[in-house]
Amino acid sequence: MQSQEVSVVTGAFGFTGAAIARQLVDLGQEVRTLTNRLPGSNPLAGVVRRCPVDFQNPDQIAEALHGASTLYNTYWIRFPRGPLTFDKAVENIGILVKAAEQAGVARVVHISVSNASPSSPLPYFRGKGLAEEIIRGSLMSHAILRPTLIFGTGDILLNNVAWFLRKFPFFPIPGTGNYHVQPVYVEDVASQAIAAGKGQANLVAESAGPDILTYQDMVELVIKGIGSHSKPVHVQTAFECSIASEKITLIKKI
Ligand SMILES: NC(=O)c1ccc[n+]([C@@H]2O[C@H](COP(=O)([O-])OP(=O)(O)OC[C@H]3O[C@@H](n4cnc5c(N)ncnc54)[C@H](OP(=O)(O)O)[C@@H]3O)[C@@H](O)[C@H]2O)c1
Repeated sequence: MQSQEVSVVTGAFGFTGAAIARQLVDLGQEVRTLTNRLPGSNPLAGVVRRCPVDFQNPDQIAEALHGASTLYNTYWIRFPRGPLTFDKAVENIGILVKAAEQAGVARVVHISVSNASPSSPLPYFRGKGLAEEIIRGSLMSHAILRPTLIFGTGDILLNNVAWFLRKFPFFPIPGTGNYHVQPVYVEDVASQAIAAGKGQANLVAESAGPDILTYQDMVELVIKGIGSHSKPVHVQTAFECSIASEKITLIKKI
C-alpha cells in the first residue's frame, strides 16, 4: 500500500496558506501547518495538524516537518512591528529552510511576490528578494512563485477597500490611480503552487491573473460590485511617489 504523502503549509488558517492546504487535503494528502494562529471556525480545524512556530526553537520546527516531502512556505510579514522587522523575517525564513533541510524535506514551494529584488528600494520587496536568495541556496529543490495581488475570500487588500467604500463618502486614491494591478485568484495561486510542488526542477514563476487594470479601475469595480456611493478622490502620498518613480507595480515582471 502506498503511504499517504505529507506536506507542511505555513499559515493554513490564514489566506493563501488556507487555499493551498484545502487543495492538498482534497488531493488526499496529510497536511500539517506551522502556525501560532488558532483555527477558530476554519473548516480545516481538526483536518490539518497544527504545529507551533517558534523561530527560537528550530528543532521543534524540524520535528513538525519530519516525514514531509514538501514545504509550502507563505511566511512573511506585511509591515514591521516591534522587533519583527523585514530583516528578522528574512532571518526566520533562513531558520525555517534549515529546519526543513534537517528534517529531510525534499522540496520547498515558496510564495514570494512580483518584483521581489534584493536591490529594491521598497523594504517589503527587498526582503522578499533576500528571502528568495535563501530559497535558491537551499539544499532542497525549490519552486518560487511570484504572485501579483492575490484576491479571494478573506483577502486583506480588497476587503479593506470594500470596507472603506461602505463606510466613507470619499475613497482616497494615491496619485493618479493610473498604475497597474494584475490581480490573481487565490485558488489559482494555490493550484499553481501544488503543481510546482510536484516537480523536481528548480523554478521561478510569475503568478498573475489574466486581466491588467489600473488601480482606479479596480476600485471602481469594487464600488460597482458592492453598490457603494463613495467617490474616489486623488491624494498625493509617498506610496504613490515610490510606485511611480520606481515603476514597482503589482503586475508581473515582463
Ligand atoms: N495577499 C497578497 O496580495 C499577496 C501578493 C503577493 C504575495 N503575497 C505573499 O503571499 C504570502 C501569504 O500572504 P497572505 O496574503 O496569504 O497573508 P497571510 O495569510 O497573513 O499569510 C502570511 C504568512 O506569514 C505568517 N506570519 C505572519 N506574521 C507572523 C508572525 N508574526 N509570526 C509567525 N508567522 C507569521 C502567517 O502565519 P499565521 O497564519 O500562522 O499567522 C502566514 O503563514 C506572503 O508571503 C506574501 O508576501 C501576498
